[in-house]
Amino acid sequence: MHVDKRLEGKTALITGAARGIGFEFAKAYLAEGARVAIADINIARANEAAAQLGAGAFAIEMDVTRQESIDAAVDEAVRVLGGIDILINNAALFTAAPIVEITRQDYDRTFAVNVAGTLFTMQAVAKHMIARGQGGKIINMASQAGRRGEGLVAVYCATKAAVISLTQSAGLNLIAHGINVNAIAPGVVDGEHWDGVDAFFAKYENKAPGQKKKEVGESVPFGRMGRADDLTGMAIFLATKEADYIVSQCFNIDGGQWMS
Ligand SMILES: NC(=O)c1ccc[n+]([C@@H]2O[C@H](COP(=O)([O-])OP(=O)(O)OC[C@H]3O[C@@H](n4cnc5c(N)ncnc54)[C@H](O)[C@@H]3O)[C@@H](O)[C@H]2O)c1
Repeated sequence: MHVDKRLEGKTALITGAARGIGFEFAKAYLAEGARVAIADINIARANEAAAQLGAGAFAIEMDVTRQESIDAAVDEAVRVLGGIDILINNAALFTAAPIVEITRQDYDRTFAVNVAGTLFTMQAVAKHMIARGQGGKIINMASQAGRRGEGLVAVYCATKAAVISLTQSAGLNLIAHGINVNAIAPGVVDGEHWDGVDAFFAKYENKAPGQKKKEVGESVPFGRMGRADDLTGMAIFLATKEADYIVSQCFNIDGGQWMS
């Protein structure tokens, strides 16, 4: 049976796609016929990722905390891809500390990447999409951490709550231009990111390396941690025409961790 590729002819800019979930999104989009700009602050890793993914994948250096870098990366993606149909705001930093140990430096850096990075990348791409007049799809990566606070994770949780809120406002504002803005809230997804999270908890909860990961996986109603490829179905669907009537929503993909 012949199944049409769902993103044939589409183009996507994915931030933070050199590894982890963003990389898996890029791979899934390519398999569905899209061409993809792998935008990352780590250009060496982005180059490796693009080489591994093959035809249709392009690495672009991008630091979402710097406006010049956002503008240059969006221009480059438009030049290489001929326009941007889909943006996934995926780049983010994780940080954790008890309230009394949070530093301004850590707060500023995490908000700069996760919140300002999401907003101003969305803005730059929306300007392009509006000028082009063909609408578009924007997917922001939120988290279950944005649904409620966590004792040791105040700053990261606050950034992800802000991403959910920005998704709501931007979705309402941009739908007049045929641009759908929605978000995905993963639960706990195994990968290099979570190796870092595990190390934070090993320090603050006095756990052996790997212990937090094990406990967290066992606590997921589905029975295991998420994998990046658990999220690709929603990322593809939200970029298709079938999702045209979906505006400002945030979808939990977390094995049953959170209901809202
Ligand atoms: N892994 C999880 O358990 C989990 C859970 C919920 C939400 N999320 C969210 O999903 C997204 C992807 O997570 P992941 O696990 O793949 O993370 P990751 O840390 O593996 O990958 C993040 C990527 O972003 C890049 N990046 C960092 N700062 C950047 C900057 N200033 N400009 C451009 N790129 C930058 C990094 O180089 C890296 O390639 C993030 O938004 C994260 O918050 C992850």
